[in-house]
Amino acid sequence: MINKVRGTQDILPARFTKKADGQMERWHAVERAAREAFRRYGFEEIRTPILERTELFDRGVGTETDVNKEMYTFEDRDGETISLRPESTAPVVRAYNEHALYNQPGLAKLFYIGPQFRRERPQKGRYRQFWQIGVEVLGSDDPAIEAEVIELLDWYLKRLGITDTELLINSIGDQNCRPAYLVLLKEAIRERLDRLCGTCNQRYETNPLRVFDCKEESCQPVLEELPKLIDRLCDACQAHFDEFQRLLDGREIAYTIVPRLVRGLDYYTRTAFEIVGKRLGSQNTIVGGGRYDGLSEILGGRPVKGFGFALGMERLIISMPESIVNLRSEAPALFVAYIGDEARLHSFALARRLRAAGISVVVDLEARKLKRALAVADSLGAAYSLIVGEDEIKSGAYTLRNMSSGEQKQLAEAELVAHLSKL
Ligand code: HAM
Repeated sequence: MINKVRGTQDILPARFTKKADGQMERWHAVERAAREAFRRYGFEEIRTPILERTELFDRGVGTETDVNKEMYTFEDRDGETISLRPESTAPVVRAYNEHALYNQPGLAKLFYIGPQFRRERPQKGRYRQFWQIGVEVLGSDDPAIEAEVIELLDWYLKRLGITDTELLINSIGDQNCRPAYLVLLKEAIRERLDRLCGTCNQRYETNPLRVFDCKEESCQPVLEELPKLIDRLCDACQAHFDEFQRLLDGREIAYTIVPRLVRGLDYYTRTAFEIVGKRLGSQNTIVGGGRYDGLSEILGGRPVKGFGFALGMERLIISMPESIVNLRSEAPALFVAYIGDEARLHSFALARRLRAAGISVVVDLEARKLKRALAVADSLGAAYSLIVGEDEIKSGAYTLRNMSSGEQKQLAEAELVAHLSKL
């Protein structure tokens, strides 16, 4: 047998698996609630290709980021270098420019739901193919956008019964205040290199801000000594960050300022945020996002301000309480079993009429013993089953069995439709 690729997963109907993040009913619940959130807040869906030119991510997320190093990249037959998208912010900004979305008045408030690919070491909550739900708001740098997007997330997480989370925020400055800070930071790291781990030493060379992301125990006290960007913001960045907090306060949304929150992609400016969950292990970040005002220009597009987030759907599903999804919610209303060949044909026709009336019907497609047929109905989670035999065809009254109580009723077809339509 050929098995799936390491770090990928199959998503199955719940009755075939106990693994929460592999159950389709949970995925549907998460997607339904997301679409409802986006409808309420006025977001429009965008779908971009899974394949993009590698250059988009080299320029967009930066060549010295982990995300870039984990990309699945190949040379296409015409010599072009292509990558499976590791994230969707750069693709959305590309599409925004390519289709001149800026020609329409107002902001572009876009959302997406789709798979992303990163060749990371797989573990709980970390996959090589994983799914994100994300939003990108393009066209303004008003902190009101940030607060509203976080309000949307607050609504959404509550809707999914996820309450044990924490919102972490930071400001990582902009092109006015960050360069001077980076000089200062590099200097401070340089003096402490011998007390920092190999990864920190490497990041000192390539991407000094990323040292703050180090999880190594022995590095922690050293990192605490380093200067913080949040203490050195320029006036404009400080005003932006203050207003963002004021707007969160106004909504009574709790947050913690984490000066060490730096995010793993190069495009961020000013606001960066994460929502972390308590049910997850080391991979506890459910949502990550922030502002990326210079990204469009980096990609060769027109100057446009942007803010957005993406959440990992697998991590979201692991964080959801078991009880929030009815795993039988997609089960058929009716399973039709029959006895004999005439009843079989009759059942097919009856099932077709019931479906035309809007009822979900599974008709047994394999002639088998009644007991076996009812076991199938049970496994499918059908609410009712119907047994069709010669007598039923003659009398025009069918025996409808409630699968949970075992109670049976005789009903004519019209009554059957009326009864099942109420489900
Ligand atoms: P990110 O922090 O790289 O940001 O990813 C966002 C979320 O995707 C993470 O918080 C996590 O839930 C999930 N995720 C990332 N990698 C994996 C993985 N290997 N397995 C499972 N889940 C994963 C971005 O992707 C940005 N594009 C977010 C953004 C949008 N910023 C502005 N707009």
